[in-house]
Amino acid sequence: MTKKILIVAGDGIGPEVMGEAERVLGWYKQKRGFDVTVEHELVGGCCYDKHGVAVTDATIEKAKAADAVFLGAVGGPKWDNVPYEGRPEAGLLRLRKDLELFANLRPALCFAALADASSLKREIVEGLDIMIVRELTGGVYFGEPKEITDLGNGERRGVDTQVYTTHEIRRIAEVAFDLARKRGNRVMSVEKRNVMKTGVLWYEEVAKLHAEKFADVKLDNMLADNCAMQLVRNPKQFDVIVTDNLFGDVLSDIASMLTGSLGMLPSASLGAKDANGKANAMYEPVHGSAPDIAGTGAANPIASILSLAMALRYTFDRGACADLLEKAVDAVLANGLRTGDIMQPGMTKVGTVAMGDAILKELDRLN
Ligand code: NAI
Ligand code: MG
Repeated sequence: MTKKILIVAGDGIGPEVMGEAERVLGWYKQKRGFDVTVEHELVGGCCYDKHGVAVTDATIEKAKAADAVFLGAVGGPKWDNVPYEGRPEAGLLRLRKDLELFANLRPALCFAALADASSLKREIVEGLDIMIVRELTGGVYFGEPKEITDLGNGERRGVDTQVYTTHEIRRIAEVAFDLARKRGNRVMSVEKRNVMKTGVLWYEEVAKLHAEKFADVKLDNMLADNCAMQLVRNPKQFDVIVTDNLFGDVLSDIASMLTGSLGMLPSASLGAKDANGKANAMYEPVHGSAPDIAGTGAANPIASILSLAMALRYTFDRGACADLLEKAVDAVLANGLRTGDIMQPGMTKVGTVAMGDAILKELDRLN
């Protein structure tokens, strides 16, 4: 059946990097029989300029109907003073909320050619391939009460509340177990059950779900502080890490920086599966609209191209296509091509389109 992709390239370098991802998508249509239709819509500042809102209701409906949404980046100084509802970020937040994207996937993938650019030793990061699954819509960022109160004696008290229900824990764990089956078949569940009740519940519910539905996947548990240490000591011990919103925020940033620049980092956000097994999904580079280099043709398109690889693997069940794309990126880097953000001495500096060209050429060669 024909799949549907909605591309919302957004602002700044968004259209430049998405353009390269779309060329790669075109290659898969032509050379690998990937049956997909592509539509384009506006989100962010560009949408505000045309419609007075950062995303329209019609685009939200199209995003829900699509198998996957590809987002470039939104925002920029031009829109710094528009009212809150019109702000570019509001468009992105509304997409995430209306599509109920509760699972944020942040891979840390180390390409051999960039292993020396890591702050860790080559042997610790070379071949690294881990996936952090962060719960995105619950936990301490949203729990009530959430307030600062005046205690009347010159003291004030700030309160945030960590809340998780069994439903929220089970659905994020389900995403992690599903992903593990498409990767190394191992899940590390991370909490602090030694000091937190939500941690105890997390531990128990993940174990229950594992026994019920995912006994074929290897499950281990780790306390969050130990996980932070292990990520810099021996990151290759991990395959999929699943954790709550707060721990996931910190651990995913640690993990992604083991391997490289903002211009290399893809991400995905997934919703729950419906009765037909279809889940809302949005794929996007981690970086923003980079107004400082927008329009210069210098942006690194690899984060967007690797986001496409994630979509091939996790939404479209085309793991072999995703492997091929990651191999092509690896080969281009091994050939010494670099955009400015990942430039190293002795390498060849190229722009956005030349990087896209080189990846397409490698795909042809490896195909
Ligand atoms: P940024 O990620 O746009 O840029 C940070 C630095 O990294 C800049 O020097 C930029 O040139 C560089 N950079 C980023 N992506 C690159 C790429 N693909 N290739 C080469 N260099 C790259 O973050 P910043 O500057 O804090 O924010 C700029 C705008 O982007 C703001 O309006 C912000 O709100 C928005 N933003 C949007 C995000 C999104 O759409 N998901 C995420 C982060 C920021
Ligand atoms: Mg963060």
